[in-house]
Amino acid sequence: MFAKDFSHLYSDECNRRTADKLGSLIEYAKIPNISFLGNGLPQSKFFPWQSISATSPLPPFNEGIESCDKSTDTFSIQVMKNDNSNSQAGTCGEKSFNLAKGLQYQPVVGQQSVLDFIREHLKLVHEVGTNYQDWDVILSLGNCQAFDSILRTFCNPGDYILAEEYSFSSSILTAKTQGVQPVPLKMDEHGIVPEYLIELLENWPVNLKKPKLLYTIPTGQNPLSYSLSLERKKIIYDVLQKHDVLIVEDEPYYFLQTGEYQQKSERKEVKFNSHNEFIDSLAKSFLSLDTDGRVLRLESYSKTLAPGLRLGFIAASSAITKQLARYNTMSIMTPSSFSQIFLNELLNSWKQEGYLDWLIGLRHEYTIKRDGSLDFLLENVPKQLIEQKIVKISPPVAGMFFTIELNAKKHPNYTGDKISIETHINEKLIEGGVVVAPGSWFAVQNPEEFKHIVSDDSENEYIFFRLTFAANDLPQIEEGIEKVIKVITSEFQ
Ligand SMILES: Cc1ncc(COP(=O)(O)O)c(C=O)c1O
Repeated sequence: MFAKDFSHLYSDECNRRTADKLGSLIEYAKIPNISFLGNGLPQSKFFPWQSISATSPLPPFNEGIESCDKSTDTFSIQVMKNDNSNSQAGTCGEKSFNLAKGLQYQPVVGQQSVLDFIREHLKLVHEVGTNYQDWDVILSLGNCQAFDSILRTFCNPGDYILAEEYSFSSSILTAKTQGVQPVPLKMDEHGIVPEYLIELLENWPVNLKKPKLLYTIPTGQNPLSYSLSLERKKIIYDVLQKHDVLIVEDEPYYFLQTGEYQQKSERKEVKFNSHNEFIDSLAKSFLSLDTDGRVLRLESYSKTLAPGLRLGFIAASSAITKQLARYNTMSIMTPSSFSQIFLNELLNSWKQEGYLDWLIGLRHEYTIKRDGSLDFLLENVPKQLIEQKIVKISPPVAGMFFTIELNAKKHPNYTGDKISIETHINEKLIEGGVVVAPGSWFAVQNPEEFKHIVSDDSENEYIFFRLTFAANDLPQIEEGIEKVIKVITSEFQ
């Protein structure tokens, strides 16, 4: 089976992109003994690095992944220049780089050995290649840049996309800045409501262009921390297939699946007896359901390794990754070789099993932080605020965030505008020495032309604030939550 052709959805910009003839000369540099006078490749003897090195923890991380600060179980890598030849571009296909080759211009899709590792990982976790065989991977500078490149490849100014009604504000801004209008989809505590999506698409105004893609954060949704069930994913996939809409799944939190929150007394530590058991515990992705090649999966190393790497990847049909590669040629070229070298050395030393061990360790740490934060919150919020439904707390099942919902109508200053209550409480929180993210900042507003079709949010009395347990250790998180509770309690007296 092969992916369907989605070229009719390409943007005008994408259709104007042509192959980079000059860049294609680099392929010749791989031929032994060729006189390569084609491209301006600086000689590696003028690269001012003789070697680089790094020390990292060694799998299976029996002492936990935090042990990288104190453990003796570490290994070091050193990458030398090996500067005995003219460095040539595109020639570094081995598992290990040397700096002479590694710091030269690289293939725009990314280094072969990094891509090979990612392909193997995707086969293990998502069984990619089972439903259709012409799939591929291209490196990105993380999911923000990946989404920007996808929008430019599929959307023209004036096009519509679909998005969760509360979504990652930076992605929504990226779309709007390009003149692309996100249309919000209703959500409940399980994510996008499929019936709403069906209704919206069935009644899409005939005078308006159909949406090109759905932008979704299926696991540990930002800001609401919901995870979309498999049942809903299947319905959504079928609906979007019927309406010829692509799916962009933005998954930075995929490996932070902390599971259902359990009361302290009922809590049991989750242990995985094998890597397969861990993989089986993970949510099935849209990518794994995809039979058409309509899913573009965005993964990032920002939350699993380090945000400063600025590395992630897009998995999609190879026809689509080819278009994205053309865009790379005209913009970022490829992520920094330093990042690629460090990632390559780390992953290929850890191997697939070691990387899974790391992800299991990460899940464990985030579960402890999620549980500790929620325990403290639930134990310390005055019970009457919960009983009177002034405060609502829904423990997250994945990701880095949790929300505190507040009934704006019950605030003494409420005069009909809940956002002014949100602003007021936010100011009080900052005065009280704690910073959180106001929910309305994530709201995807209905475009004017959809106001009559899509019911607005005015019925909903609640506002919410998003808090993270990612950025601190538990004692500091508790200190922050305590300040939040103090402000809420005094505001709703
Ligand atoms: C949904 C979502 N996408 C993307 C990002 C940014 O990812 P990256 O650092 O890979 O650009 C974030 C948060 O940082 C996010 O919440």
